[in-house]
Amino acid sequence: MFRLFARDLAIDLGTANTLMYEKGSGIVLNEPSIVALKFDGQRKQAVAFGSEAKMMLGRTPEGVKVIRPVRTGVIADFEVASLMLKQFLMLARQKSRSLFRPQVIVGVPSGITEVEKRAIRDAIEGEARDVKLIDEAMAAAIGCNLPVTEAVASLIVDIGGGTTDIAVISLKDVVHSVSLRQGGDAMDEAIINHMRRRHHLLIGESTAELIKKTIGSAHPDYDKQEMEVRGRSLTSGAPGSLLVAGAEVREAISEVVNAIITGIRHALENTPPELSGDIMTSGIALAGGGALLKGLDKRISEELRVAVTVAEDPLAAVVKGAGMCLDNTELYKDIWF
Ligand SMILES: Nc1ncnc2c1ncn2[C@@H]1O[C@H](COP(=O)(O)OP(=O)(O)OP(=O)(O)O)[C@@H](O)[C@H]1O
Ligand SMILES: [Mg+2]
Repeated sequence: MFRLFARDLAIDLGTANTLMYEKGSGIVLNEPSIVALKFDGQRKQAVAFGSEAKMMLGRTPEGVKVIRPVRTGVIADFEVASLMLKQFLMLARQKSRSLFRPQVIVGVPSGITEVEKRAIRDAIEGEARDVKLIDEAMAAAIGCNLPVTEAVASLIVDIGGGTTDIAVISLKDVVHSVSLRQGGDAMDEAIINHMRRRHHLLIGESTAELIKKTIGSAHPDYDKQEMEVRGRSLTSGAPGSLLVAGAEVREAISEVVNAIITGIRHALENTPPELSGDIMTSGIALAGGGALLKGLDKRISEELRVAVTVAEDPLAAVVKGAGMCLDNTELYKDIWF
Protein backbone atom coordinates (compact mmCIF):
# COMPACT_ATOMS: atom_id res chain seq x y z
CA MET A 1 0.00 0.00 0.00
CA PHE A 2 2.83 2.41 0.80
CA ARG A 3 5.59 3.40 -1.53
CA LEU A 4 8.98 3.50 0.08
CA PHE A 5 10.28 6.52 -1.80
CA ALA A 6 8.29 9.68 -2.19
CA ARG A 7 7.64 10.97 -5.66
CA ASP A 8 9.20 14.36 -6.44
CA LEU A 9 6.99 17.37 -5.88
CA ALA A 10 6.73 20.76 -7.63
CA ILE A 11 5.30 23.70 -5.68
CA ASP A 12 3.94 27.07 -6.78
CA LEU A 13 3.80 29.09 -3.56
CA GLY A 14 1.79 32.04 -4.87
CA THR A 15 0.46 35.20 -3.27
CA ALA A 16 -3.08 34.01 -4.01
CA ASN A 17 -2.85 30.23 -4.50
CA THR A 18 -0.54 27.34 -3.64
CA LEU A 19 -0.40 24.39 -6.02
CA MET A 20 1.50 21.10 -5.80
CA TYR A 21 2.30 18.73 -8.64
CA GLU A 22 3.50 15.20 -8.05
CA LYS A 23 5.83 13.62 -10.55
CA GLY A 24 3.95 11.05 -12.54
CA SER A 25 0.50 11.92 -11.22
CA GLY A 26 -0.14 15.65 -11.84
CA ILE A 27 -1.69 18.29 -9.59
CA VAL A 28 -2.33 16.93 -6.10
CA LEU A 29 -3.11 20.18 -4.26
CA ASN A 30 -4.68 23.51 -5.22
CA GLU A 31 -5.59 25.81 -2.33
CA PRO A 32 -5.71 29.56 -1.62
CA SER A 33 -2.56 30.70 0.27
CA ILE A 34 -4.58 31.63 3.33
CA VAL A 35 -4.51 30.66 7.02
CA ALA A 36 -7.08 31.44 9.73
CA LEU A 37 -5.47 31.89 13.15
CA LYS A 38 -7.06 32.00 16.56
CA PHE A 39 -5.43 34.40 19.01
CA ASP A 40 -5.60 33.61 22.69
CA GLY A 41 -3.48 36.20 24.48
CA GLN A 42 0.09 35.61 23.23
CA ARG A 43 -0.71 32.17 21.85
CA LYS A 44 -1.93 31.65 18.32
CA GLN A 45 -3.25 28.51 16.75
CA ALA A 46 -4.15 27.73 13.15
CA VAL A 47 -7.83 26.87 12.84
CA ALA A 48 -8.25 26.64 9.05
CA PHE A 49 -6.12 26.54 5.90
CA GLY A 50 -6.75 27.14 2.20
CA SER A 51 -10.31 27.33 0.86
CA GLU A 52 -11.74 26.80 4.34
CA ALA A 53 -9.80 29.84 5.58
CA LYS A 54 -10.72 31.86 2.48
CA MET A 55 -14.43 31.42 3.26
CA MET A 56 -13.73 33.12 6.59
CA LEU A 57 -12.26 36.25 4.93
CA GLY A 58 -14.13 39.32 6.14
CA ARG A 59 -16.50 37.28 8.31
CA THR A 60 -14.35 36.03 11.20
CA PRO A 61 -15.51 35.92 14.82
CA GLU A 62 -13.57 37.91 17.41
CA GLY A 63 -10.14 36.47 18.18
CA VAL A 64 -9.78 34.87 14.73
CA LYS A 65 -7.65 36.51 12.06
CA VAL A 66 -7.31 35.48 8.43
CA ILE A 67 -3.75 35.88 7.15
CA ARG A 68 -2.17 35.69 3.71
CA PRO A 69 1.46 34.84 4.54
CA VAL A 70 2.78 35.32 0.98
CA ARG A 71 2.95 38.83 -0.43
CA THR A 72 4.14 39.73 -3.92
CA GLY A 73 5.33 36.18 -4.36
CA VAL A 74 7.62 36.04 -1.35
CA ILE A 75 7.11 34.92 2.23
CA ALA A 76 5.96 37.89 4.31
CA ASP A 77 5.05 36.01 7.49
CA PHE A 78 7.53 33.18 7.96
CA GLU A 79 5.85 31.46 10.89
CA VAL A 80 2.42 31.33 9.26
CA ALA A 81 3.82 30.42 5.82
CA SER A 82 5.69 27.48 7.38
CA LEU A 83 2.55 26.25 9.13
CA MET A 84 0.62 26.50 5.87
CA LEU A 85 3.28 24.67 3.83
CA LYS A 86 3.52 21.89 6.43
CA GLN A 87 -0.24 21.41 6.31
CA PHE A 88 -0.37 21.44 2.49
CA LEU A 89 2.61 19.08 2.18
CA MET A 90 0.94 16.71 4.61
CA LEU A 91 -2.27 16.74 2.55
CA ALA A 92 -0.37 16.20 -0.70
CA ARG A 93 1.72 13.39 0.77
CA GLN A 94 -1.29 11.67 2.30
CA LYS A 95 -2.46 11.15 -1.25
CA SER A 96 0.88 9.86 -2.44
CA ARG A 97 1.14 7.47 0.57
CA SER A 98 4.92 7.50 0.75
CA LEU A 99 7.02 7.02 3.85
CA PHE A 100 9.98 9.21 2.94
CA ARG A 101 10.24 12.91 2.30
CA PRO A 102 10.11 14.02 -1.34
CA GLN A 103 12.54 16.09 -3.38
CA VAL A 104 10.89 19.43 -4.00
CA ILE A 105 11.19 22.14 -6.67
CA VAL A 106 9.66 25.54 -5.87
CA GLY A 107 8.85 28.42 -8.23
CA VAL A 108 10.21 31.81 -7.11
CA PRO A 109 9.78 35.29 -8.60
CA SER A 110 12.69 36.80 -10.49
CA GLY A 111 14.59 39.37 -8.44
CA ILE A 112 14.03 37.41 -5.22
CA THR A 113 16.72 38.25 -2.62
CA GLU A 114 19.05 35.72 -0.94
CA VAL A 115 17.22 36.25 2.36
CA GLU A 116 13.87 35.54 0.67
CA LYS A 117 15.29 32.39 -0.98
CA ARG A 118 16.61 31.24 2.40
CA ALA A 119 13.14 31.74 3.94
CA ILE A 120 11.53 29.50 1.31
CA ARG A 121 14.18 26.79 1.71
CA ASP A 122 13.90 26.94 5.52
CA ALA A 123 10.12 26.71 5.44
CA ILE A 124 10.23 23.53 3.36
CA GLU A 125 13.50 21.87 4.35
CA GLY A 126 12.04 19.88 7.26
CA GLU A 127 9.42 18.37 4.95
CA ALA A 128 11.65 17.68 1.98
CA ARG A 129 14.73 15.66 1.19
CA ASP A 130 16.09 18.36 -1.09
CA VAL A 131 14.81 21.79 -2.15
CA LYS A 132 15.45 23.32 -5.58
CA LEU A 133 14.25 26.66 -6.89
CA ILE A 134 13.12 27.64 -10.38
CA ASP A 135 12.33 31.06 -11.87
CA GLU A 136 8.55 31.31 -12.02
CA ALA A 137 8.43 32.94 -15.43
CA MET A 138 10.61 30.13 -16.81
CA ALA A 139 8.31 27.56 -15.20
CA ALA A 140 5.25 29.30 -16.63
CA ALA A 141 6.83 29.31 -20.11
CA ILE A 142 7.55 25.58 -19.88
CA GLY A 143 4.01 25.02 -18.59
CA CYS A 144 2.68 26.86 -21.66
CA ASN A 145 4.74 24.53 -23.91
CA LEU A 146 6.85 27.43 -25.22
CA PRO A 147 10.09 26.29 -26.91
CA VAL A 148 12.37 27.47 -24.05
CA THR A 149 15.24 25.12 -24.90
CA GLU A 150 15.45 26.30 -28.52
CA ALA A 151 17.24 29.27 -30.06
CA VAL A 152 14.04 31.23 -30.57
CA ALA A 153 12.73 33.87 -28.20
CA SER A 154 9.43 33.50 -26.33
CA LEU A 155 7.64 36.17 -24.31
CA ILE A 156 5.74 35.02 -21.25
CA VAL A 157 3.57 37.22 -19.03
CA ASP A 158 2.52 35.67 -15.70
CA ILE A 159 -0.15 37.79 -14.01
CA GLY A 160 -0.59 36.58 -10.45
CA GLY A 161 -2.29 37.97 -7.37
CA GLY A 162 0.64 40.05 -6.16
CA THR A 163 2.99 40.32 -9.11
CA THR A 164 3.16 40.41 -12.88
CA ASP A 165 6.28 38.79 -14.28
CA ILE A 166 7.23 39.55 -17.85
CA ALA A 167 10.14 37.58 -19.34
CA VAL A 168 11.81 37.03 -22.67
CA ILE A 169 13.26 33.52 -22.77
CA SER A 170 15.61 31.85 -25.22
CA LEU A 171 17.95 28.83 -24.95
CA LYS A 172 16.91 28.05 -21.34
CA ASP A 173 17.86 31.57 -20.29
CA VAL A 174 15.91 34.62 -19.23
CA VAL A 175 17.17 37.25 -21.70
CA HIS A 176 15.19 40.09 -20.17
CA SER A 177 12.68 40.25 -17.35
CA VAL A 178 10.56 42.75 -15.47
CA SER A 179 8.61 42.11 -12.31
CA LEU A 180 5.78 44.50 -11.49
CA ARG A 181 4.45 44.55 -7.94
CA GLN A 182 0.93 44.71 -9.34
CA GLY A 183 -1.46 41.96 -10.28
CA GLY A 184 -4.96 40.72 -9.48
CA ASP A 185 -4.89 42.00 -5.88
CA ALA A 186 -4.23 45.55 -7.08
CA MET A 187 -7.28 45.24 -9.37
CA ASP A 188 -9.41 44.15 -6.39
CA GLU A 189 -8.15 47.13 -4.36
CA ALA A 190 -8.96 49.48 -7.22
CA ILE A 191 -12.53 48.11 -7.30
CA ILE A 192 -12.92 48.58 -3.53
CA ASN A 193 -11.73 52.20 -3.86
CA HIS A 194 -14.01 52.85 -6.83
CA MET A 195 -17.08 51.52 -4.97
CA ARG A 196 -16.26 53.66 -1.96
CA ARG A 197 -15.59 56.87 -3.87
CA ARG A 198 -18.21 56.66 -6.60
CA HIS A 199 -21.02 54.83 -4.81
CA HIS A 200 -20.22 55.34 -1.11
CA LEU A 201 -20.48 51.58 -0.73
CA LEU A 202 -18.06 49.62 1.41
CA ILE A 203 -17.23 46.17 0.05
CA GLY A 204 -14.71 43.51 1.12
CA GLU A 205 -11.88 41.78 -0.76
CA SER A 206 -13.97 38.73 -1.68
CA THR A 207 -16.76 40.84 -3.19
CA ALA A 208 -14.23 42.91 -5.15
CA GLU A 209 -12.67 39.74 -6.54
CA LEU A 210 -16.10 38.40 -7.51
CA ILE A 211 -16.94 41.66 -9.33
CA LYS A 212 -13.62 41.47 -11.22
CA LYS A 213 -14.19 37.86 -12.27
CA THR A 214 -17.84 38.38 -13.20
CA ILE A 215 -17.96 41.71 -15.07
CA GLY A 216 -14.37 43.01 -14.97
CA SER A 217 -12.57 43.36 -18.29
CA ALA A 218 -9.75 45.06 -20.13
CA HIS A 219 -11.72 45.71 -23.32
CA PRO A 220 -14.84 47.78 -24.14
CA ASP A 221 -16.37 44.66 -25.78
CA TYR A 222 -17.51 43.69 -22.29
CA ASP A 223 -18.80 47.09 -21.11
CA LYS A 224 -22.47 46.14 -21.21
CA GLN A 225 -22.28 43.37 -18.61
CA GLU A 226 -23.69 44.22 -15.19
CA MET A 227 -24.22 42.73 -11.76
CA GLU A 228 -25.80 43.55 -8.43
CA VAL A 229 -23.28 44.36 -5.72
CA ARG A 230 -23.99 44.26 -2.00
CA GLY A 231 -22.07 46.11 0.68
CA ARG A 232 -22.47 48.62 3.47
CA SER A 233 -23.61 52.11 2.67
CA LEU A 234 -21.13 54.69 3.94
CA THR A 235 -23.86 57.32 4.19
CA SER A 236 -26.48 55.38 6.16
CA GLY A 237 -24.30 52.62 7.64
CA ALA A 238 -26.99 50.12 6.58
CA PRO A 239 -26.56 47.25 4.11
CA GLY A 240 -27.07 48.45 0.56
CA SER A 241 -26.95 47.11 -2.96
CA LEU A 242 -26.70 48.58 -6.43
CA LEU A 243 -26.24 47.64 -10.05
CA VAL A 244 -22.67 48.00 -11.32
CA ALA A 245 -21.72 48.05 -15.01
CA GLY A 246 -18.75 46.43 -16.71
CA ALA A 247 -17.61 49.76 -18.14
CA GLU A 248 -16.99 51.30 -14.73
CA VAL A 249 -15.12 48.22 -13.50
CA ARG A 250 -12.95 48.33 -16.62
CA GLU A 251 -12.29 52.00 -15.88
CA ALA A 252 -11.54 51.27 -12.20
CA ILE A 253 -8.90 48.63 -12.96
CA SER A 254 -7.48 50.42 -16.01
CA GLU A 255 -4.44 51.75 -14.15
CA VAL A 256 -3.27 48.21 -13.33
CA VAL A 257 -4.07 46.95 -16.83
CA ASN A 258 -2.17 49.89 -18.36
CA ALA A 259 0.84 49.20 -16.12
CA ILE A 260 0.91 45.60 -17.38
CA ILE A 261 0.72 46.69 -21.03
CA THR A 262 3.45 49.31 -20.48
CA GLY A 263 5.62 46.63 -18.84
CA ILE A 264 5.23 44.34 -21.86
CA ARG A 265 5.97 47.24 -24.24
CA HIS A 266 9.21 47.99 -22.33
CA ALA A 267 10.20 44.32 -22.43
CA LEU A 268 9.74 44.31 -26.22
CA GLU A 269 11.74 47.54 -26.56
CA ASN A 270 14.59 46.12 -24.48
CA THR A 271 14.85 42.89 -26.43
CA PRO A 272 17.56 42.57 -29.10
CA PRO A 273 16.05 42.93 -32.62
CA GLU A 274 16.49 39.30 -33.72
CA LEU A 275 14.71 38.10 -30.61
CA SER A 276 11.88 40.63 -30.85
CA GLY A 277 11.46 39.44 -34.44
CA ASP A 278 10.86 35.93 -33.05
CA ILE A 279 8.24 37.30 -30.68
CA MET A 280 6.46 39.14 -33.48
CA THR A 281 6.17 35.75 -35.22
CA SER A 282 5.34 33.51 -32.25
CA GLY A 283 3.35 35.99 -30.15
CA ILE A 284 2.95 36.57 -26.43
CA ALA A 285 1.74 33.90 -23.97
CA LEU A 286 -0.33 34.88 -20.93
CA ALA A 287 -0.38 32.79 -17.74
CA GLY A 288 -1.46 33.27 -14.10
CA GLY A 289 -5.01 33.91 -12.88
CA GLY A 290 -4.92 37.47 -14.24
CA ALA A 291 -4.73 36.05 -17.77
CA LEU A 292 -8.40 35.10 -17.28
CA LEU A 293 -9.46 38.77 -17.12
CA LYS A 294 -11.92 39.15 -19.97
CA GLY A 295 -10.61 40.89 -23.06
CA LEU A 296 -7.04 41.21 -21.76
CA ASP A 297 -5.63 39.14 -24.63
CA LYS A 298 -7.52 41.21 -27.22
CA ARG A 299 -6.52 44.51 -25.60
CA ILE A 300 -2.79 43.64 -25.46
CA SER A 301 -2.90 42.33 -29.00
CA GLU A 302 -4.57 45.53 -30.29
CA GLU A 303 -2.24 47.89 -28.46
CA LEU A 304 1.04 46.11 -29.19
CA ARG A 305 0.10 44.55 -32.55
CA VAL A 306 1.30 41.11 -31.55
CA ALA A 307 -0.66 37.86 -31.40
CA VAL A 308 -1.57 36.89 -27.81
CA THR A 309 -2.49 33.43 -26.54
CA VAL A 310 -3.80 32.52 -23.09
CA ALA A 311 -2.45 29.36 -21.43
CA GLU A 312 -4.82 26.41 -21.44
CA ASP A 313 -5.03 26.42 -17.64
CA PRO A 314 -3.38 29.73 -16.67
CA LEU A 315 -3.67 29.22 -12.90
CA ALA A 316 -1.70 25.96 -13.15
CA ALA A 317 0.96 26.99 -15.70
CA VAL A 318 3.78 27.58 -13.16
CA VAL A 319 3.29 24.34 -11.21
CA LYS A 320 2.79 22.37 -14.42
CA GLY A 321 6.02 23.78 -15.88
CA ALA A 322 8.00 23.08 -12.70
CA GLY A 323 6.47 19.59 -12.70
CA MET A 324 7.52 19.05 -16.31
CA CYS A 325 11.11 19.76 -15.18
CA LEU A 326 10.81 16.88 -12.70
CA ASP A 327 9.38 14.62 -15.39
CA ASN A 328 12.22 15.46 -17.77
CA THR A 329 15.31 16.15 -15.62
CA GLU A 330 17.81 15.52 -18.46
CA LEU A 331 16.36 18.29 -20.65
CA TYR A 332 15.81 20.82 -17.87
CA LYS A 333 18.53 20.06 -15.27
CA ASP A 334 20.44 23.35 -15.75
CA ILE A 335 17.30 25.45 -15.31
CA TRP A 336 16.80 25.14 -11.53
CA PHE A 337 19.12 26.37 -8.79
N1 LIG B 1 -11.60 34.78 -14.13
C1 LIG B 1 -10.72 35.64 -13.61
N2 LIG B 1 -10.68 36.92 -14.04
C2 LIG B 1 -9.82 37.81 -13.51
N3 LIG B 1 -8.92 37.50 -12.56
C3 LIG B 1 -8.91 36.24 -12.09
C4 LIG B 1 -9.80 35.25 -12.58
N4 LIG B 1 -9.56 34.08 -11.92
C5 LIG B 1 -8.57 34.34 -11.05
N5 LIG B 1 -8.18 35.63 -11.14
C6 LIG B 1 -7.17 36.33 -10.32
O1 LIG B 1 -5.92 35.72 -10.46
C7 LIG B 1 -5.15 35.97 -9.28
C8 LIG B 1 -4.53 34.69 -8.79
O2 LIG B 1 -3.70 34.18 -9.80
P1 LIG B 1 -2.53 33.17 -9.46
O3 LIG B 1 -3.06 32.02 -8.69
O4 LIG B 1 -1.83 32.91 -10.73
O5 LIG B 1 -1.64 34.08 -8.49
P2 LIG B 1 -0.44 33.63 -7.56
O6 LIG B 1 0.48 32.75 -8.33
O7 LIG B 1 -0.98 33.07 -6.29
O8 LIG B 1 0.24 35.02 -7.23
P3 LIG B 1 1.76 35.53 -7.51
O9 LIG B 1 2.22 34.85 -8.75
O10 LIG B 1 1.62 37.02 -7.65
O11 LIG B 1 2.51 35.16 -6.28
C9 LIG B 1 -6.10 36.54 -8.24
O12 LIG B 1 -5.91 37.93 -8.15
C10 LIG B 1 -7.45 36.22 -8.84
O13 LIG B 1 -8.45 37.14 -8.44
MG1 LIG C 1 2.10 33.00 -9.52
